[in-house]
Formats: sequence, C-alpha cells, structure tokens
Amino acid sequence: MDATIVPKVQKHYPVLLKEIISVISPQHGGTFIDCTFGQGGYSKKILEFKNTNLIAIDRDKESEKVAYQFKKKFKDRFIFKNIKFSQLNNLKLKNQNIKAVIFDLGYSYTQIKDPEKGLSFESSGKLNMRLGLNNYSAEDAINKLDEKELEKIFKFFGDEKEGKYIARNIVKERLINRIDVKTLIKIIDKSKKRKNFKVHNATKVFQSLRIFVNREISELILGLINATKILKKGGVLGVVTFHSIEDKIVKYFFKSLSENKSISRYSPVVEQAEILFDLIQKKPVIPSNEEINENPPSRSAKFRYVIKKTDFYNFNTDIKDKFKDLIEIENFGDKL
Ligand SMILES: C[S@@+](CC[C@H](N)C(=O)[O-])C[C@H]1O[C@@H](n2cnc3c(N)ncnc32)[C@H](O)[C@@H]1O
Repeated sequence: MDATIVPKVQKHYPVLLKEIISVISPQHGGTFIDCTFGQGGYSKKILEFKNTNLIAIDRDKESEKVAYQFKKKFKDRFIFKNIKFSQLNNLKLKNQNIKAVIFDLGYSYTQIKDPEKGLSFESSGKLNMRLGLNNYSAEDAINKLDEKELEKIFKFFGDEKEGKYIARNIVKERLINRIDVKTLIKIIDKSKKRKNFKVHNATKVFQSLRIFVNREISELILGLINATKILKKGGVLGVVTFHSIEDKIVKYFFKSLSENKSISRYSPVVEQAEILFDLIQKKPVIPSNEEINENPPSRSAKFRYVIKKTDFYNFNTDIKDKFKDLIEIENFGDKL
C-alpha cells in the first residue's frame, strides 16, 4: 500500500492476484513459498489447487491467527513460520523443488487499521511502526537519533525535501517532550513551508520511518538473495512493490542477473557474469483500472518477475554494494 492513510476499502484485497497466479501457475501443482502471508490472500488461492504445498512466512505474529485457520483446512499441505524473509535460509530449503517464491511488500489493511502498530497518521498514541520481530520502534528513532541521521532518513527513505527543518524541530521539541504521533505531525506541519494539498503533510516522513524501523531495504535485499538460492531451474521469483526504492532494488537485481555485464562490443573481453534469470517482461505488470477502482491503494503496485535458468545455489551479486548508502542509513538503528 502507498500513503500511510487508512484506506476507504473495508478489507484486505490481494493485489494483482489474477496476474500473479497466471505467472506462477499453481494449477500444475508444486511447492510454493509466500514470503508475505498477511491475510493469506495469495496463499489461499494457491492452495485451492489440489496438488500444491505452501510454506508461508510473515514477521507479524498476528498473521499466525489466520495461519491457524489455514492449518485446520489444508493440514500438511500448509506450513507457517513467524520469521522475517531475510531469514528464509534458516528453513533449510536447499534441495526442495520450489516452484515459485512470491513477495507482496509493505503492510496489509489489517496492520494499518491496528492502532497499536501506529502506521497511520490517523492513529493516536505512541509512534511504533514495528511490523514484528524488530529491535526498536519509530519512537526510539525519533527520540534518540541525532539530527543529521534523522534528516538522512527523511531525505533518502521518504524523498522529503524539507527533512532538514523537520529534523531540527524534532531535536528541539524532544528536549521538552517525548514525541508521539500527534506531536510529530504538529512538528511536520510547522516545519514544512511547501504544503501539499493532495497528500497528507506527514506522508513522506511516515514512510521513511516505517522503512527505517523495519529495515525494509536490507530485508528486501537479503530476501531476494535467499529466495533466488532456493529456487530450482524453471522456478519463478515474483515481487510486488509499492514505492520507488523497493522497485529500484528489484529492478536492478533482476536486470543485473539476467544479462551479460560487458555489453559494449568495444569494451575489453572480460569473464562473463553468469546469467541466472530469464527476464520475460522488462516492464512491470500494473493493476487494471478496474482493480484500482475497487481497491485504490493498489494504484502504486508494480509486479516484476523472473524465471531461474539454472540450478545454481550460490551466485554473485553486487546488489549490497549498489545500495550500500541506503543500508548504511538503516544501520543507524544498530545503536538504538
Ligand atoms: C501487503 S501484506 C501481504 C498481503 C498478502 N499478500 C495477502 O494477500 O493477504 C505484507 C505482509 O508482509 C509482511 N512483511 C513485511 N515485511 C516482511 C519481512 N521482512 N519478513 C516477513 N514478512 C514481512 C507484513 O507483516 C504483512 O503482513
């Protein structure tokens, strides 16, 4: 989902479901991994096909309640683990015949409606933003990081042009009060000279804090690497993203592993990088107008997928290096 507002729709819609099912083809059976189980929208559809097995993971303990119902219905065909997808390698799936691994990033309708999580600027009370299995909250970040660090979080994770003034005013205010959701919104309103009438003033700061608290950049990078390892030849890796940083990471990962690196015929002959993926479609799949009308938060969704061409378990990628500036910002959290 994009902006941090409570959507008008009253339930969770699995985004681009039809399109994803047509790419991963569960009708032919096989073992699938749903890395972002949530309310189980994708998992349910996959398990409706008789010869399928599914391993679902989610970092939010609340998902376990939905998983419990799935377990009753689908028995041994369904396994749920409350872990982060960066920990996918803990499941020791090296020699399983995994047909597809899917990610639907971000958070669900149920999570944004949960006042305890504090994901929405409509929530009252504490700044939290932890989706689950975190080491610190948004409140810790806002009240303990230094001004320059906060400015970088707002700038690089939220593209917030006025992050400098917001960070300065946060540091001033916290000398007097501990900052909660309402106080943060007041600070943002006071700091921003350029008002945006289309989206809430706090949208970018909230997005940036959510990315920081959940280490979404490192999670995605490790999730992609681990998922790629466990896929067998012919397996599909598919990701739905909701903001430009995520999409940039997925796009780079897929593209860099689906082509030879030395492309110019004038460049020296170097050892060719191994080609791991078939990138069937360069452009992402996006929701139809019909889907957007029914579920407006889907408008920012982009689905990209690749097919693994080889059985390689280990492979080289420079993705961590490519996005090291963003990972360094997430690492500010190590001292919290
Ligand atoms: C958009 S929802 C998925 C909805 C799901 N596709 C459905 O149809 O119900 C995203 C889910 O991913 C989970 N999530 C986000 N980051 C995660 C991570 N790093 N590891 C595991 N789960 C994560 C969230 O807790 C949330 O439940």
